[in-house]
Parts: sequence; C-alpha cells; structure tokens
Amino acid sequence: MHALTAILLALPITALAGNPHEGSQRRKHWETRNVAHARRGVTYQLEDDYSGQNFFDGWTFDTEADPTHGLVDFVSDTVAQVSQLAYVQSDNTVVVAVDDTTNLTAGANRNSIRITTKKTYNGGLFVADFFAMPHGCGVWPAYWSVGPNWPEAGEIDILEGVNLQTDNQITLHSSPNCTITNADAATGHLVNPTCTSSNGNNAGCAYAQSGGNSFGHGFNMMAGGVFAHLWDQTGISVWFFPRTEIPQDISSGNPDPSSWGAPVALFPNNDSCDTSAHFHDHSLVIDTTLCGDWAGNSFGGDGCPGTCADFILNANNFQRKPLFIISI
Ligand SMILES: *[C@@H]1O[C@H](CO)[C@@H](O)[C@H](O)[C@H]1NC(C)=O
Ligand SMILES: *[C@@H]1O[C@H](CO)[C@@H](O)[C@H](O)[C@H]1NC(C)=O
Ligand SMILES: *[C@@H]1O[C@H](CO)[C@@H](O)[C@H](O)[C@H]1NC(C)=O
Repeated sequence: MHALTAILLALPITALAGNPHEGSQRRKHWETRNVAHARRGVTYQLEDDYSGQNFFDGWTFDTEADPTHGLVDFVSDTVAQVSQLAYVQSDNTVVVAVDDTTNLTAGANRNSIRITTKKTYNGGLFVADFFAMPHGCGVWPAYWSVGPNWPEAGEIDILEGVNLQTDNQITLHSSPNCTITNADAATGHLVNPTCTSSNGNNAGCAYAQSGGNSFGHGFNMMAGGVFAHLWDQTGISVWFFPRTEIPQDISSGNPDPSSWGAPVALFPNNDSCDTSAHFHDHSLVIDTTLCGDWAGNSFGGDGCPGTCADFILNANNFQRKPLFIISI
C-alpha cells in the first residue's frame, strides 16, 4: 500500500483578469482581446503565468509549521533544490514532491513542500493543469488559496483530499455569516452548507465530486486534467475537466467560462454569503501534508493500516512515480 507523492504540473497555472467595464479606466492598462461568448461580456486577459523553467520564481517556500498539524517539515527552497523535492523538468513540467528516500525515527516529521504565490489576488479566472497528484495512505495534497488572518480573509480549496479518496472535495472557509443556498446549480454534491469556520470547527462549506477521476489514482490514470475557478462579483465557481475533455478555449488560451456548462461547485455572492467581503488578498498555495487534522484523523476509517504516525516513518511507503510526463 504505497503512497504516491509527487505533484506534476503540466501546462501553466494561469491567473486571468476579467473586465466587465467596457471603456473603464482600468481597461487602458490591458491589451484587450475580445472573447466571442464571454460571460456577461467579460473579456479575460492573461495577468500571470506560472509555468516552465521560471515556475518557482513566482512562489515562496513556506517553512512554518503546518497549521493543520501534519507530520511534515516544509523545507526551504535551498533544501528543496538539494534534495530534489521541487524542480522543473526539461520538458517544462513542474514537480513538487514529498521526501521518499529517508527512513525516519519515531516521532519525526517527513520533509515536504508548501509553496505560496508572492502575488495576492482579489478575484480572477484561475486555470491550473495537473498531470498527476499525490495520493495514498497518510497523504493530504491540496491546491488552494488563502488570505491573511484566517479565517477573516477566507480560504478557497480547489483540489483537496486524503488517503485513498477517489473524488475531489471543493471547500470554502470564511468568517461568520457565509452559507451556501443554491447548491442545485452545481453538479457536485453539497456535503456541508456552512462556510463559517474557526479553529474549533473548520469543516467549511464543501462540494464533493463524483466519478472517481477527480482525485488520486483515478485522476492520475487519465493523466489528470484542469481545475479552473472563476472568482468575481457573481461569487466563486469551480470547474473540473479531465485530460480528454479540456475545452478548446482553454487549450488555445482564450478561456470562456460561459461555454463550460454548470460548475462542479458554486458559491453565489449574495445575502447568504457576501463573497466579496469574505474573500480577499489571496495567495495561491500548493502543498502536500501528511497525517494531521484530516488525513491523520480519518486514517484508520479510510482503510489504512496501523497509525498514520508510524506509516510515514518508512520511506518504502512512499514512491515518486512521474508516470505521466508528456512533452508539451
Ligand atoms: C527503510 O526501511 C525499510 C524497512 O526497514 C528498508 O527496507 C529500506 O531499505 C530502508 N530504506 C532506506 C533508504 O534506508
Ligand atoms: C452576522 O450576522 C448577524 C445578523 O445579521 C450580525 O448581527 C453579526 O454582526 C454578523 N457577524 C459578522 C461577523 O459579520
Ligand atoms: C443566493 O443566490 C441564489 C441564486 O444564485 C439563490 O438561489 C439564493 O436563494 C440566494 N440566497 C439569498 C439569501 O439571497
């Protein structure tokens, strides 16, 4: 029962800005390009492109203790380089991995990576392409965004799950007075409507995907796919596209969310949750933690053997298999 512990990012993570205000001052700063069927006349312009050999330039390596109590030491960029836990391959794919070579003594943490964008965002259209993701017993990978003073500025979890899970969960965490009221407009299953979170109760409002291909082994077997999320004045919507179903407008660099159909997760901006007040100044984050509040607490219940703390000691339980490297 091995855990697979490398994240492979393929094409870029891109952040795009939408411009609903025709002729506004802001428009002057952008090379505008009209999109044929844009949502409410919005045009999307590329603002940031995290990809290829310069991928890590836009990110900070966080070395603070995992706030979710994972049994990891998040390492610096120097350690990450020396121990080959974060690097860009010659085909421009980006690898972010957990240490899979060190046997630990009882009570020790395993080295891993948590990277955060230097830039912060107050909205936009974000498109992230993953070829492969970590999964398996003890493993808790996530692609998410978060603002200062948690949960005051909120948290948006786009890709997240633990252990042997096969379906992704999309979750928001917020300060008080944010709940989800229109789950029917999303294809995902609402598992909890209350976004309001605190240190004592941080379940958050969450949608579970289904189909067995949005997380873990099933995701990797089809060479992953694209998670796209739109965060604007209408709220926060998330779409997932398996590798073979990535829309042409994404592949061609002219993303058009109005053509993508219902999102898997929808968090509308209205009286039940003022998303513009609850979510601001977010950095994007990619990390893999081990055990901790979620993967550790559900370890046995998820069918994993023994204790999570023991499981992570043995390097043999981890393996890095970049199976899905594809030239781009
Ligand atoms: C780690 O421990 C396992 C089990 O004792 C052993 O088979 C393996 O060779 C060890 N690996 C390293 C890198 O020392
Ligand atoms: C939440 O809503 C209640 C009732 O409208 C209000 O009294 C309270 O101040 C709000 N709390 C926050 C943190 O906005
Ligand atoms: C929020 O918006 C959705 C439609 O997107 C609607 O179904 C729901 O009733 C609204 N809730 C409130 C409290 O306005």
